[in-house]
Amino acid sequence: MSTSPSAIYDEIRRGMIPAYVYNDAEIFDRERTNLFSRAWLFVAHESEIPQAGDYVVRRVLDDSFIIVRDEKGELRALFNMCLHRGMQVCRAEVGNASHFRCPYHGWSYRNDGRIVGLPFHEEAYGGEAGFSRKGARLLPAPRLESYNGLIFISMDPEAPELLDYIGDFKFYLDYYTRQSSSGIELRGPQRWRVKANWKIGAENFAGDMYHTPQTHTSVVEIGLFREPKAEKRKDGNTYWAGNGGGTTYKLPPGSLEERLRYVGYPAEMIERMKEVWSQEQLDVIGRDGFMISAASMFPNMSLVHNWPKVEEGSDDEVIPFISIRTWMPISEDETEIYSWFAVDAEAPEEFKELSYKAYLMCFGSTGMFEQDDVENWVSLTNTAKGSMARRLLLNGRMGMLKDGSPVVDPLGPEEFAGPGVAHVGYGEYNQRHLLDRWADYMEPDYEGVDFRALTIGGELPKDSGIRLTGKKKNDQEVAK
Ligand code: FES
Ligand SMILES: [Fe+2]
Repeated sequence: MSTSPSAIYDEIRRGMIPAYVYNDAEIFDRERTNLFSRAWLFVAHESEIPQAGDYVVRRVLDDSFIIVRDEKGELRALFNMCLHRGMQVCRAEVGNASHFRCPYHGWSYRNDGRIVGLPFHEEAYGGEAGFSRKGARLLPAPRLESYNGLIFISMDPEAPELLDYIGDFKFYLDYYTRQSSSGIELRGPQRWRVKANWKIGAENFAGDMYHTPQTHTSVVEIGLFREPKAEKRKDGNTYWAGNGGGTTYKLPPGSLEERLRYVGYPAEMIERMKEVWSQEQLDVIGRDGFMISAASMFPNMSLVHNWPKVEEGSDDEVIPFISIRTWMPISEDETEIYSWFAVDAEAPEEFKELSYKAYLMCFGSTGMFEQDDVENWVSLTNTAKGSMARRLLLNGRMGMLKDGSPVVDPLGPEEFAGPGVAHVGYGEYNQRHLLDRWADYMEPDYEGVDFRALTIGGELPKDSGIRLTGKKKNDQEVAK
């Protein structure tokens, strides 16, 4: 079978996946230009840079960005390349600075990106007449916006507003990132590389409840979870809304409070959740009995929520943890994982410590689930490179009958209060949603942005479309 590009996308839209899309240099080239240069990408959380001058350096494909809070408190994403001869201006990964001075010849920039000093400005350039510093600045990422403190950037000046891009998935994002009005704080990220294609992790976290009983048998056997059988996963649902979707567990009967207690939240945290979540958000747990677990937002951000036992012998003592991560591609067969531990900023200190432990046991570079998962993905990526993989269409149609209708009808509004579509049981609905979005970005020819027309010597013409600071959206608009 030789697959012409448009045939790839047709197959993917009917749930069949040409195996080589998980390891192909041309596909990856197109992902660069068509996808990663247009989608909104998660890079940092505001709690990582709380004070003026705080910064972290983050990589987005081949670009390095300084994500910094400037003197006025505005968030910036500055392309980490000196305007002079292109040296990386900031070489530390995290810190606090009022200025960044280039190590090569010493040009210096304020933390909002504006250039302030050039050594020998007068002698070397003839002063302002020769090189005007006014208006020259480190290039900003074309767009930056944040939601619940999550900072996203896009390389596309024409990208939709972040909230429109997230869509109804923000309803679910709140469970992970807004358990009180103070929001979350992060530890990390842990950062490591795996020889696997970036799409596989995103798909797995979005909806692969089916792998838990098989891949994670040993973790279940040692009793890390209170639920005796991993098969329990089929009682949960997978939901998709807006630009993201995820998986849930079915909880035992009980009130909202009892169910949140069941997964290990202390009473004071439950009270705060009741203050910040909408009635529908509370109903998903209290009325419908579902608890969010792993999720992905297109293209490469994932979240986890789970509640293992952290102490030996204590039968009921589970502790929930939250993790946020990105699958940042290095190439078609390598991914750098950024994995943060997240916790409600108002949680009791003891809870924060135990929750961190729970996270480290399960996920992150040392996590037991992580190790199980990655072995599959590396192996899959390897096998996708060969000639036979070019003849194979993988079956990604779980949950769908021959005619495309669902094996199990979606939950009605009286069974599931969340937005979007949700199905109980095993299915690859969400993997298909992710790949459908992928196809929508990949298929049309995309010229890219002509940055030569946009920037001259670090100056931005008024009509460049590039916004210098992010527009902050706040919690009020959430999920109402
Ligand atoms: S390259 Fe940065 S000062 Fe010369
Ligand atoms: Fe897994």
